[in-house]
Amino acid sequence: MQRPIGIFDSGVGGTSIWKELYQLMPNESTIYLADSKNAPYGEKAKEEILQLSIKNTELLLERDCKLIVVACNTATTNAIDYLRKNYNIPFIGIEPAIKPAALQTETKKVGVLATKGTLSSNLFYNTSKLFASGIKVYEQEGKGLVELIEAGLSDSKELKNLLNQFLHPMLEEGIDCLVLGCTHYPYLIPVLEEILPKGIRIIDSGQAVAKQTQSVLESNGLLNSSSESSPKKLFYSNANPLLLKKLVNRDDIEVNYLDF
Ligand code: DGL
Repeated sequence: MQRPIGIFDSGVGGTSIWKELYQLMPNESTIYLADSKNAPYGEKAKEEILQLSIKNTELLLERDCKLIVVACNTATTNAIDYLRKNYNIPFIGIEPAIKPAALQTETKKVGVLATKGTLSSNLFYNTSKLFASGIKVYEQEGKGLVELIEAGLSDSKELKNLLNQFLHPMLEEGIDCLVLGCTHYPYLIPVLEEILPKGIRIIDSGQAVAKQTQSVLESNGLLNSSSESSPKKLFYSNANPLLLKKLVNRDDIEVNYLDF
């Protein structure tokens, strides 16, 4: 099935998921929407996150997407139930990887860095309750991080200071796993590796999301089995196409500005 996979995020962060999808399924066409104009979603009320998720979904459906990856923890935790109930295609979401962290921690202490919108959602609460019993979870809101990443300042002093400030208390408590609960944060891994002491595992859900996408496409008979097609890799941003291009860093993608 040569129809594209749709992917959306509040901005450029979901490209970390796009890369995992591409690595696993290079034969699939993709359309990526970066709603950078409305970033950060994490500071908005649930209803607004839902309306933005609906807008993004409808735009991708108009472009004939066969499945949508909600490449944003904040949109997933606040809107995916509604999307699944109201649109007749498969949706894949992403949420903080509490379960793998709970399985890997030896100190039984896990840190989660995520947006306010994710940490305050019912889905996050339920997942933590289900998978982290017997584990102490230290939640930290990454206030300000998405804005800096969207401004292309992932390597700035300001960002390093914020991260130091956010991580210090949970490190003092003795966490040995740090869950990245926002798709923008994999772009902080080089800085995190400078800050975190050796032995702290960084856990994110990107690969698991790509595997889940592949398995859902397969079970619905939606994988592109044609090897003759040349898959399209379309990216749209309503604010910062140049940053998208820089982060994806490939010559074979098409990046455009779109007012949505
Ligand atoms: N990439 C989004 C996420 O995974 C960032 C949310 C935001 O815009 O605040 O949560």
